[in-house]
Amino acid sequence: MKKNIAYLHTKKQQQPITVLTCYDYPTACLQDEAGIDIVFVGDSVGTNILGYKNETEVTMADMRHHLKAVRRGVTDAYLLVDMPYASDSDVKQAVTNAKLFLSDGADGVKLEGGIEKVPIVTALTEQGIETCAHIGHNPQIHGTKAATHGKTFAKAKRLIEAAAALADAGAKLIVLEKITEEVSQIITETVDIPTIGIGAGRYCDGQVLVINDILGIGPPFKHAKRYQDYNHLTFEAICQYHEEVANGTFPTDANTSHIPPDKLARVQKWLKSAR
Ligand code: KIV
Repeated sequence: MKKNIAYLHTKKQQQPITVLTCYDYPTACLQDEAGIDIVFVGDSVGTNILGYKNETEVTMADMRHHLKAVRRGVTDAYLLVDMPYASDSDVKQAVTNAKLFLSDGADGVKLEGGIEKVPIVTALTEQGIETCAHIGHNPQIHGTKAATHGKTFAKAKRLIEAAAALADAGAKLIVLEKITEEVSQIITETVDIPTIGIGAGRYCDGQVLVINDILGIGPPFKHAKRYQDYNHLTFEAICQYHEEVANGTFPTDANTSHIPPDKLARVQKWLKSAR
């Protein structure tokens, strides 16, 4: 069953919504098969896959390339894509770029920022484009070092007001990143759209993590959980391959194809006569 926004809204405060970042076709196939609700092509592709220093280096071309690969692997999940740095600086540019993503197969677009993004969300909504807001820690604005948001009265109030304004502007989902659990719970209870937390505690309507972090690629983070030791397992496989090729134990006859003996005899005879 294809998951759309209406379906995701029925899950609010009923059943947690599962979201994972995804950057390539084989991983998209696995996430879709596993039943992940939202497969999300995040601009974290820059630091996690492309070797960039931070999110500001990610371009529309990068995002479209990875979105198209992920699209080929997704059948049921809602496919969300990040507007990369400066691709949504003004209304016209945001609408143009979001339409490019929809033409590549995205179901909706996510954009970082607080109350200042209300005009952009309004314009996208007027164009019938489904948006996911993203408040709290915004890597495009705050950089890769993530501090917790919502620890003072003023900051908690600003976050709660921003979430309400973005929802009123038409956002269909909202990511809460690195926000105190208490403030995330208040936002979840006060907006009528699903909240998706990352480092935002237990009471959001859903959770998102970066696929690299659950697989054990790269450094561990407090907000994430490792379900696999990819780095170690992959390094072991690479070392074994290297060793077996170097010492001649790979390939074996089982990895090899043969020409039938009578055909080989003809080749050898022809070779002799041709010399
Ligand atoms: O790009 C990304 O991975 C994100 C998540 C942190 C939500 O925006």
